[in-house]
Amino acid sequence: MAGGNFMVADEGGCEYPGKLTRYVALTCIMAAMGGLIFGYDIGISGGVTSMDPFLKLFFPSVYRKEALDTSTNQYCKFDSQLLTLFTSSLYVAALIASFVASFVSKKHGRKVTMFLGGLFFLFGAVLNAAAVHISMLILGRILLGVGVGFANQSVPIYLSEIAPYKYRGTFNVLFQLAITVGILIANIVNFLTNKISAGWGWRVSLGGAAVPALVILISSLFLDDTPSSLIQRGKSEEAEQLLKKIRGVDNVDAELKDLVEASEASKKVQHPWKVLLRVRKYKPQLILSTLIPTFQQLTGINVVMFYAPVLFQTLGFKANASLMSAVITGAVNVGATFISVYCTDRYGRKVLLLTGGVLMCVFQALVAGLIGWKFGTTGVVATVLPQSYAILVVLCICVFVAAFAFSWGPLGWLIPSEISPLEVRSAAQSVTVSMNMLFTFAVAQVFLKVLCWMKFGLFIFFAAFVFIMTLFVYFYVPETKNIPIEEMSRVWGEHWYWKNYMDEQSPAEEVV
Ligand code: BGC
Repeated sequence: MAGGNFMVADEGGCEYPGKLTRYVALTCIMAAMGGLIFGYDIGISGGVTSMDPFLKLFFPSVYRKEALDTSTNQYCKFDSQLLTLFTSSLYVAALIASFVASFVSKKHGRKVTMFLGGLFFLFGAVLNAAAVHISMLILGRILLGVGVGFANQSVPIYLSEIAPYKYRGTFNVLFQLAITVGILIANIVNFLTNKISAGWGWRVSLGGAAVPALVILISSLFLDDTPSSLIQRGKSEEAEQLLKKIRGVDNVDAELKDLVEASEASKKVQHPWKVLLRVRKYKPQLILSTLIPTFQQLTGINVVMFYAPVLFQTLGFKANASLMSAVITGAVNVGATFISVYCTDRYGRKVLLLTGGVLMCVFQALVAGLIGWKFGTTGVVATVLPQSYAILVVLCICVFVAAFAFSWGPLGWLIPSEISPLEVRSAAQSVTVSMNMLFTFAVAQVFLKVLCWMKFGLFIFFAAFVFIMTLFVYFYVPETKNIPIEEMSRVWGEHWYWKNYMDEQSPAEEVV
């Protein structure tokens, strides 16, 4: 992977000589493994909550409702707040942990934050696998959530800071690729463990989370911190040596100078949170760091990721066929992420978000139509449906997932990690992680209830949101392809709307 030299002169006058070294590629791949943790978790809970032995042990009332009461309205079959709490407790914990992680990341660096993420995750996995009471189950999920909060706070920033800016998109998308691989592995594990007739397969599924935890734990021991983080913590000499190593050249003066300047500016900001929330010139970053993750979740992607097996069962698939369908959507998710790996730095972020948005909107609406066709508003199968119906449902869900996987999936993490200046970067990333977790929690917690209430209309609701966010991207999201991370202020200054926020005094002049 040791690629050629690059020295690109931008309009802004930036020139950073360097190579795409094997070292930096390897470093990024190892760090991206942090995404495995998150992905495994997303994928595992849906399958586990559709396994009878698990339901019998921890959620007997849901089991009785699902297994014995055939007359129940199909839309309401799995509606249990306790069951959803199992899935969603993780995201509340991640939300809170990401704020703590922001301080750890600023004070002790990205590497330590990743290591701690792996550690919490390991404890959570062990507790879940050994659970004999629902409290152990929920406590385990909370520990996993803390792990996710730490990993998602540090990994995207790590990747954006260490990658040469021309390849930043590609390397950052590796995080999302790892998430999708984590989800797929979880889906396959569930499919296999469900076949264990003794009924302890769910323990293997939940305990399996220890594997990605160990991967990130061990990887983080071998990683260097990022040059920005080292400079920010007063280790400039070390940063210079590291920069030479990762760029594969001796002349790193230009990049080092920009990093040192960014760090100097950042030191003048005593309270990054106050600055981010109060200073007008950071409003664009604050607004995008808030809206992008919110929109990512309002696509409704996690309805498919968490509840695909349950959803397919609701649609009349048998348990194993449901888990198999989840494996199929998981594989599509991984495959389509490669489109983004290839296109993000070549064609830019916006074209992917716009194309993905249009496809998602159309296919989400089709899914709504298909579900409505089968169950109408009563939730009772009324029509005799053709054989091809099941294939059509799975196909539409696959196109929806593929469109998400090359657009909002990776870019929902990439764009927020690359738009903020160093002085508020960790704080802004916490906003992103916490908003993402808040809306992941909300979707997980209310989906089964709202499905019971809004029926197939729920999918129309998501389609409408995708339409709105696609318009938002068109007007308000600037293109950030090929812009060095420390030069991002140029992007805001040239944007038709955000430039109105740019004529403010610098943070150094602010007394915050
Ligand atoms: C999102 C997750 C989602 C996953 C699906 C991620 O970018 O943050 O919520 O489950 O993509 O691949």
